[in-house]
Amino acid sequence: MKLAALAALAAAAAVAGAESINSTQGLQNTECVASGGATKALFATKSEVKYAQLFSIEYHDTYKVVNDKAAKGTYVLYQCGSERPSVKGASAYIPIPVSSVAAWSTSAAAFIEALGAQDRVKNLGTSPSITSACLQELLADVIKPFDEGNATSVDQQEQSNTVVFNMIGGEDANTTNTVYSSEYLESSALGRSEWIKYFGVFFNAEERANALFDAISSNYECFTGKANSKYNELRPLIAWTSYAEPSSFNNNTAYWQISDAGYKYDLVRDAGARMLNTSDGVSATMFKSSAAFLKALTEVDIIIDESFVSYTYDKLLKNYGVSDADKKKYSWAAAGRVFRPDRIQSTAGGLDWFEAPVVFADALLQDVIRVAHPGFAKGAYSPIWFRDLSNNQAVAVVGASNCTNMYAASKDPSATCSSIDFQNADPTGSDYTGVDVSQTGDVVFDVTKSDIVSAAAALRTAGAAVIACLAALCLA
Ligand SMILES: *[C@@H]1O[C@H](CO)[C@@H](O)[C@H](O)[C@H]1NC(C)=O
Ligand SMILES: *[C@@H]1O[C@H](CO)[C@@H](O)[C@H](O)[C@H]1NC(C)=O
Ligand SMILES: *[C@@H]1O[C@H](CO)[C@@H](O)[C@H](O)[C@H]1NC(C)=O
Ligand SMILES: *[C@@H]1O[C@H](CO)[C@@H](O)[C@H](O)[C@H]1NC(C)=O
Ligand SMILES: *[C@@H]1O[C@H](CO)[C@@H](O)[C@H](O)[C@H]1NC(C)=O
Ligand SMILES: *[C@@H]1O[C@H](CO)[C@@H](O)[C@H](O)[C@H]1NC(C)=O
Repeated sequence: MKLAALAALAAAAAVAGAESINSTQGLQNTECVASGGATKALFATKSEVKYAQLFSIEYHDTYKVVNDKAAKGTYVLYQCGSERPSVKGASAYIPIPVSSVAAWSTSAAAFIEALGAQDRVKNLGTSPSITSACLQELLADVIKPFDEGNATSVDQQEQSNTVVFNMIGGEDANTTNTVYSSEYLESSALGRSEWIKYFGVFFNAEERANALFDAISSNYECFTGKANSKYNELRPLIAWTSYAEPSSFNNNTAYWQISDAGYKYDLVRDAGARMLNTSDGVSATMFKSSAAFLKALTEVDIIIDESFVSYTYDKLLKNYGVSDADKKKYSWAAAGRVFRPDRIQSTAGGLDWFEAPVVFADALLQDVIRVAHPGFAKGAYSPIWFRDLSNNQAVAVVGASNCTNMYAASKDPSATCSSIDFQNADPTGSDYTGVDVSQTGDVVFDVTKSDIVSAAAALRTAGAAVIACLAALCLA
């Protein structure tokens, strides 16, 4: 999820001409049924949820019932022209396929573009943060950004669409067409990607969604299989960390955090690495001091830094409290293995991290494998999203001019795993300096309760951070 730059804290009629979505394959029931006509089963192709925990899809003859379990939304999607059904507890009734949609979160926009349904998008929120080149081009003259400074205008824009995709806590006043999505709360890497099916049902794009997800998941499984067979005995320890400088969002008190997000455990383990587990029952461990935080990082080989601030490697070391003399104490600092998921950015500094990798879990796993096992493939293999901060690697800026086909479905940036010949790892090589061999399990670090922000305060801070996210770029 990305909602705008966390500056302080840091989707049926097509209008796209030749590239119109119904001119290509993968859509069913693109036409409305004759008024009051259809009662027979319309949806020959169904999407079945396998990994995602937070949504469900139920098919009936002329309608679908979609549940977003996190937001507790029940959306009734009925084929346009058919009689509107009556479903107990429905939050919204939506005629499909939808031809006019708006989205507030950049990840929702990314899913819609992966379906090739961006020709249905009329309004987007947090538009400066959008990194997709083609969405940037569409935003230049086709898609209107939400008029975020004017509530009346935003209400009008929302109401002019059939569906407004939003996030829990987002602006939804005066709308009856809000649909929440919670891909960013999903606890598995493939579960996040599977939200393509959630967005697909609104466009009757089940065929596209199923095909895309099958391709992503099989490529992902191939990567997992190869990485785990090759590198089982040589698993670097990875921690996903961040520093929050004092601000109004944290009671003006800095904290240092180690992420405990479920999908990160998947990615790390599936990449043939180990995860640092500092779970204390909150969703992440927030340390009160850099000393306590650094202690937890003692055995860590690789840091993935998600701090909201962007900075140089020296600044990270300073924020983390690591002096030059102390560098040798930490495998990650001594070897210079510190990465940030901010390599691909929009002109305005929005991060692609909240777009394409949410959809394409296979490409994301490929990136994590590259970080854990730099020589996994022959030749130079650069991560797509992870930037080598320890070498102050440059960011890659994407603008509208990088778009080649505005209405084409976005492509999976992942390499095809089956064509990669995974290389053996040399435990004595410089890529693995400091890495413990023959250690296969995650490392559980027992936190001292007095060293961390209390569960209640952490939840308050997390709540404030979520609200901050709604106005900003949100790494979580
Ligand atoms: C796409 O569908 C619209 C509305 O049903 C129709 O007007 C248009 O001709 C279709 N385009 C193509 C290329 O089939
Ligand atoms: C909802 O609409 C009413 C009437 O137009 C307006 O007074 C109110 O400000 C709107 N609420 C929000 C939060 O936009
Ligand atoms: C807000 O938008 C409404 C509706 O488009 C418009 O009438 C009004 O003038 C705008 N207000 C400001 C302060 O721009
Ligand atoms: C905020 O900081 C002040 C001063 O350090 C402290 O007294 C107060 O308890 C803190 N509030 C919260 C909600 O942590
Ligand atoms: C992290 O460690 C705790 C304590 O051992 C354990 O209960 C928890 O299941 C672990 N988390 C994961 C995701 O494996
Ligand atoms: C975008 O296009 C510019 C100009 O052609 C190019 O330099 C840049 O590398 C492209 N960005 C990406 C991320 O491909």
